[in-house]
Amino acid sequence: MSNPGSIVVCQSGFEDLLVREVRELGQEASGSGPGWASFEGPAEVLRSAAFAHGVLESAGKASGDRVNVLAQQVLEYFLASLQGERIEGPWPCSFSGPHEVTGLGRRVASVESAFHELLKKRLGRVAKLASGARPRLGSARGLFVWFTDFGEARVSRSATFCGPCRMADDDLAPSRSYLKVEEAYGLLGREPAAGETVCDLGAAPGGWSYSAAKRGARVVAVDNGPLKGGALGHPLIDHREADAFGFSPGKDAVYDWLFADLVEDPHKVLQLIARPWVSGRWCRRFVINLKFGRVDPVALLGDLRSSGSPFASGCQGLRTTHLFHDREEFTVTGEVVP
Ligand SMILES: C[S@@+](CC[C@H](N)C(=O)[O-])C[C@H]1O[C@@H](n2cnc3c(N)ncnc32)[C@H](O)[C@@H]1O
Repeated sequence: MSNPGSIVVCQSGFEDLLVREVRELGQEASGSGPGWASFEGPAEVLRSAAFAHGVLESAGKASGDRVNVLAQQVLEYFLASLQGERIEGPWPCSFSGPHEVTGLGRRVASVESAFHELLKKRLGRVAKLASGARPRLGSARGLFVWFTDFGEARVSRSATFCGPCRMADDDLAPSRSYLKVEEAYGLLGREPAAGETVCDLGAAPGGWSYSAAKRGARVVAVDNGPLKGGALGHPLIDHREADAFGFSPGKDAVYDWLFADLVEDPHKVLQLIARPWVSGRWCRRFVINLKFGRVDPVALLGDLRSSGSPFASGCQGLRTTHLFHDREEFTVTGEVVP
């Protein structure tokens, strides 16, 4: 099996943006397809890409027309990579591929099942410890197989998961935007809690406000538009019909969370968050959704990463991610340095 570098998985339809983003970070893609691109340079750069959902590092290639041939090659790769490694506990084992390729899901499932049968015969104890669970965020050692086509799969023992993840909906959530903030909590490693305060700029119809209020946080929801569904009349949500750009928390008030999901020029939103929200320490942490609109997202990412970025000082743990539930937008999360 050859070693063609790393595979980066992204949201389908955003491969070109991923390739362009990584080019700006100094690496050219060696290939791409629906929901993935391959690169030969260091994985570290790839892990930092906003459009990356996951990185399969040093991925070998299995190829063949038949299920058994593919399964056998994956097995050989796995066995060769063990090199005396003792597997004592559950290990992540995942077989996947782009959902958009019709019928590929069945092939993936067949190869996965054939692989498990083969592994059971060779290493029964290790096979029993294989698990479908994998971390939401961070690196893991296991077996990660990504199908680029019916006759080709990339196989890796090390993967990094960048956070994007499908979230469960809630019947009372007034918008599908609700799913984005639910997903963003995983990037920060925490979520609003009872007794905390949230300012939600561009709140209507109230998905993000509802998400915080259902956890017991008190929310000021700023938007001239109406709240709906579970946000309408919620006792923990104070709706202020106002312009986000003129809103201020009042003397000495600090919100635990700032949310901003404004349909506005992303540069204008960034300026608002940087000054006064971050520079004035009006909030402790933030979740900001930036809509690309007519703005080139790759140039916008460059601005965010530059030393002259409005976030260059005053923030820690800054992360920009194209979430599973994001469309033509990405989400910035971070903490304000106290
Ligand atoms: C995508 S929606 C927000 C959805 C919301 N996060 C949710 O979960 O339901 C964008 C909102 O931004 C609001 N908006 C745009 N510009 C604004 C401004 N300058 N001040 C306040 N709200 C604004 C719009 O009225 C709109 O309701």
